[in-house]
Amino acid sequence: MSAQPDNSKDPLAPYEDLIVFIDGEYVPAREAAISVFDHGLLYGDGIFEGIRLYAGCVFKLDEHLDRLYDSARYLNLTIPIPQPQMREVVCETCRRNGLTNGYIRLVVTRGPGTMGLAPWLCPRPSVVCIAASIQLYPKEYYEKGLEVVCAATRRTYIGAFNARCKSLNYLNNIMAKIEGHNAGCLEALMLDQSGFVIEATGDNVFLVKGGRITTPPTYQGNLRGITRDFVVELAREAGHEVAEEPITTFEVYTADECFLTGTAAEAIPVIKVDGRPIGDGKPGPITRALIAAFRARTATDGVMLHPSEAVRS
Ligand SMILES: Cc1ncc(COP(=O)(O)O)c(C=O)c1O
Repeated sequence: MSAQPDNSKDPLAPYEDLIVFIDGEYVPAREAAISVFDHGLLYGDGIFEGIRLYAGCVFKLDEHLDRLYDSARYLNLTIPIPQPQMREVVCETCRRNGLTNGYIRLVVTRGPGTMGLAPWLCPRPSVVCIAASIQLYPKEYYEKGLEVVCAATRRTYIGAFNARCKSLNYLNNIMAKIEGHNAGCLEALMLDQSGFVIEATGDNVFLVKGGRITTPPTYQGNLRGITRDFVVELAREAGHEVAEEPITTFEVYTADECFLTGTAAEAIPVIKVDGRPIGDGKPGPITRALIAAFRARTATDGVMLHPSEAVRS
């Protein structure tokens, strides 16, 4: 399968009418521009968050902002907007686009600077907030499940860069995504240097075996997913044992069920890995119940955009 783009379509057409926040202003999307000297572009020096809006409420907004500000601290990057104000930027961007459901992309780049890596020569980090929509995997896969492969590309070694920081460097994941695509799959699992399966290219991974749920711990060089933590909470509330423990392809191939979680992906079953059916090759009962619980809770939790018009409890 080719990873080449289809040049016949304008990929930005769906975003034409959006209002985007950039460096203190709300502007039409076509006017929102980042400098070609921004180190976010030149070196991938920056951070981001992907956040969901469900039924007029921003889901886990404070958790996403906490992670964004932690990512910034890791990179020694000072975000020019204090966290409480950033909360308002996210909500206001959604309001200005009249959204009730959507996907928010908050980006902080190192900002424009002279060429050369030195971040201290970039005095003004840039902040961008986009509120639009996303459909990461086609809808039918939430019912029938995904087939995935384990990528040969290893996840960045934790000593080289800690993926707990949600940075603008996704080439490692993109290499694995291309491998998945070339194998005819929409997603790929990634292993760490030691051969442990630690996450997918943009999602966390869960297994179910004998009713027990496992997911890799987050000290192995994977992202500590906010959806992951939420699903762990949902699973425990439902009375399941959940263990954060290292997993190998042995545990994956012999699991009864497998699923992925992420803000964009939400929760999605995996039914085949490297050509091997997982369990009976269909989305399992625990996965399906957790997806249902996930949908129920995301429809009622979150930070309201319009608290004065609240109709939800
Ligand atoms: C590499 C990676 N792992 C896991 C996740 C899931 O994290 P979250 O649930 O916070 O979206 C993401 C989300 O972007 C990701 O990029």
